[in-house]
Amino acid sequence: MDEKLRGINLNNVPRHIAIIMDGNGRWAKKQGMQRVFGHRNALTAVRQAVEASADIGTKFITLYAFSTENWNRPKLEVDALMSLLINSLRKELPDFHKNGIKVNSIGATEKLPKKAQRVLQEVIHETRNNSTITLTFALSYGSREEIVNAIKNISKKVVNNEIDVKKIDEKIINNHLYTFNLPDVDLMIRTSGEQRISNFLLWQMAYAELYFTDVLWPDFRKEHLFDAIINYQNRERRFGKTSEQIGTDV
Ligand code: IPE
Ligand code: IPE
Ligand code: MG
Repeated sequence: MDEKLRGINLNNVPRHIAIIMDGNGRWAKKQGMQRVFGHRNALTAVRQAVEASADIGTKFITLYAFSTENWNRPKLEVDALMSLLINSLRKELPDFHKNGIKVNSIGATEKLPKKAQRVLQEVIHETRNNSTITLTFALSYGSREEIVNAIKNISKKVVNNEIDVKKIDEKIINNHLYTFNLPDVDLMIRTSGEQRISNFLLWQMAYAELYFTDVLWPDFRKEHLFDAIINYQNRERRFGKTSEQIGTDV
């Protein structure tokens, strides 16, 4: 067993971990390389984060791979990211199967290049019966856009008398988000030292624990995820209640 795993209480692991994989560009620059070199070296970190999450029994991991705002990057970088996405998904398919990974996506994936959409759909379809962990890629994802879309779709249903305005509640909103089939985020990890959310899962992280590390994404390994879990387990999630009510007051 991994040495670090010993410090983890396997009865209290986050059900859903979300990661903002940040710092690829800086990692490359530090070595005098182009930003794309950083993206190319991010795959090991992705594998390690997913494996470590599966090791501890986490059922959902969501990775922020490309934001709606990232479309504004230089075309060369966007194109490189899209090619990397296509090649990595193809390459990883056997490992997804071997490790029981069910692939899922959130975001305006219809904006991705056709080839990326095809490969993504293929991988999602082929892994649909895997059940160890659900790996969701946030691609062309923006939380505000997601909420705008949900409002539009709910409004249409109101107009068509399919939904009564008085009945709109959190559950109905949840069901109209890209994440309708995912639980709320318990732990959000962001690498590279930036301490912001950058339009990621705003609704779904309402009560998530936030964890920031200076590690740049290409350097992220299992041990870093375990550190985040241990930190998470030392927190008291009160959800608005008092410590006494939670019963863990010491
Ligand atoms: C994260 O690394 C990857 C994506 C946003 C696609 P960055 O590319 O943002 O790296 P930095 O933040 O510039 O170092
Ligand atoms: C957030 O990282 C998006 C992804 C990791 C895909 P960014 O590097 O784009 O975020 P900002 O612009 O620094 O907030
Ligand atoms: Mg960044």
